[in-house]
Amino acid sequence: MKIIKNPTKIHKILKALKSKGKSIGFVPTMGALHEGHMSLVRQAKKDNDIAVVSIFVNPAQFGPNEDYNNYPRLFKQDCEKCRKERVDFIFYPDVKDIYPDDYQTYVEVTEMSKLLCGKSRPIHFKGVTTIVLKLFNIIIPDRAYFGLKDYQQYIIIKKMLENLDLCIILLGMPLVREKDGLAISSRNKYLSKDQRDDALLLSKSLFQARNLIKKGVLKSGDIKKEIYKILLKGKFVKKENIDYISIIHPDNLKEIKIIKKHCVIALALRIGRTRLIDNIII
Ligand code: PAJ
Repeated sequence: MKIIKNPTKIHKILKALKSKGKSIGFVPTMGALHEGHMSLVRQAKKDNDIAVVSIFVNPAQFGPNEDYNNYPRLFKQDCEKCRKERVDFIFYPDVKDIYPDDYQTYVEVTEMSKLLCGKSRPIHFKGVTTIVLKLFNIIIPDRAYFGLKDYQQYIIIKKMLENLDLCIILLGMPLVREKDGLAISSRNKYLSKDQRDDALLLSKSLFQARNLIKKGVLKSGDIKKEIYKILLKGKFVKKENIDYISIIHPDNLKEIKIIKKHCVIALALRIGRTRLIDNIII
């Protein structure tokens, strides 16, 4: 496994491998790797000749009062995990090599970036699409792997690839949960034991919503009421800390009033200072 920090260097190496006919599978991450990330890594390794993982805590996707400085940085552990899965390259750039002084260029999927998480995180997705496009240009992957845990992110990247005519196959991988249902996230590290108990209410409410739909409850309003009820049972959950509970169309992220076919139920809330998201695809 090679660890490379320099963007030009990794680009040249991967370009040479590609010209020899090797396929490249790419998993962009911000590190603090867990089973959710590793499920993408395993798939990338399976589908391609070369698996590349990037580890970069991207300042452009954090708002001014968000957790950029506190975000867990566990590079040594991350390397061990990647080595075990026989990852071929880790790309681990410095901020100054990605965003040099006087950096000015951003890419934005304008409409979808305003919905859901975009309402309370107005610059977030612009930062995500910018870094992902830059990483795609550096790594030149054949396939890129994203988790459906960040459903909105996945759809926005999909739209960017379509709109900018990028020939990269995008794979959306299933959300990985802990045994008790909690969606695995690097931010779960911030939770105290009691807060973690409350965090379980996210998946619990989504599973209950799925049950209701199975039983024929199809009005989004009724389902959302039930989700609220379950979430508000938490000691640390206050109404004002629930960012959104949305029932949306899987392709365009627009709100659905009556469920007819497929939908995604997505929610975001803060427990203490930790912002958590979860979703379920119906
Ligand atoms: P990060 O949060 O590190 O996540 C990297 C990838 O792992 C994303 O595609 C995310 O959806 C996926 N992932 C995280 N938790 C998961 C889980 N429980 N199950 C399945 N997949 C999971 O997402 C980012 O980083 C950044 O925004 C990035 C795309 C790297 C751009 O900076």
